[in-house]
Amino acid sequence: MHTNKHNTDSQRWRIRSFVRREGRLTPGQQHALEELLPRFGLSAEHELTLAQAFDRSAPLTLEIGFGNGSSLVRMATDDPQSDFIGIEVHRPGVGHLLIELDRLALDNVRIFCHDAVEVLDRCIPDASLDRVLLFFPDPWSKRKHHKRRIVQPDFVARIARKLKTGGRFHMATDWEPYAEHMLKIMQSTTDFVNCDAAGSYSKRPGYRPVTKFERRGQRLGHGVRDLVYRRS
Ligand SMILES: C[S@@+](CC[C@H](N)C(=O)[O-])C[C@H]1O[C@@H](n2cnc3c(N)ncnc32)[C@H](O)[C@@H]1O
Repeated sequence: MHTNKHNTDSQRWRIRSFVRREGRLTPGQQHALEELLPRFGLSAEHELTLAQAFDRSAPLTLEIGFGNGSSLVRMATDDPQSDFIGIEVHRPGVGHLLIELDRLALDNVRIFCHDAVEVLDRCIPDASLDRVLLFFPDPWSKRKHHKRRIVQPDFVARIARKLKTGGRFHMATDWEPYAEHMLKIMQSTTDFVNCDAAGSYSKRPGYRPVTKFERRGQRLGHGVRDLVYRRS
């Protein structure tokens, strides 16, 4: 656990990939955060013990920035033999997912309601993940905001540390300049190999559901690009 002064200071000043836009919690979401987060939520204060989180050993997928959680619900329903951890800072989205997990009695999903970068550093054991998913991260399209994009060399290095050898890192975006930025960053690391030809996009893997943000992009006429890499 990183609690020394240096780390605390560097985290305080770190440029974040999100701005807190709390939005309105519906009464149902508020209730879910109070009543269901203790059941499905994980503490962002210390390293996670996987056996305690899931009570079994199973292939483990991490989704970063799950939005309203519809992708996690779909994937966890389709693949009950696997476990899923989602990270999201937007509390209405977390509340929405909690309601769905309870309604569907899905027990193979756990949630961090916290900044993914801090969760990766503090909570996720090294070489513990089979798959990391990043679907439609905020594109931060203005040049002066590019530094807020979550996909940066240090973020990719964090993902590499947390994946098992042979594990997959899958990104999708509907913002072409961000897709090109992702390709460039991934080409500059030796930790990953493109699952398709070097420098190319992948066909959407069958397990990736269409997300809320993706539908918005489709309405705006954006094309979608998937990028899938193997941890070497
Ligand atoms: C554009 S939305 C996409 C949501 C969802 N994946 C979808 O496709 O509908 C990006 C999400 O990432 C979340 N996010 C951004 N940076 C994050 C971070 N550092 N930690 C956790 N969540 C983050 C935002 O709150 C937002 O909900």
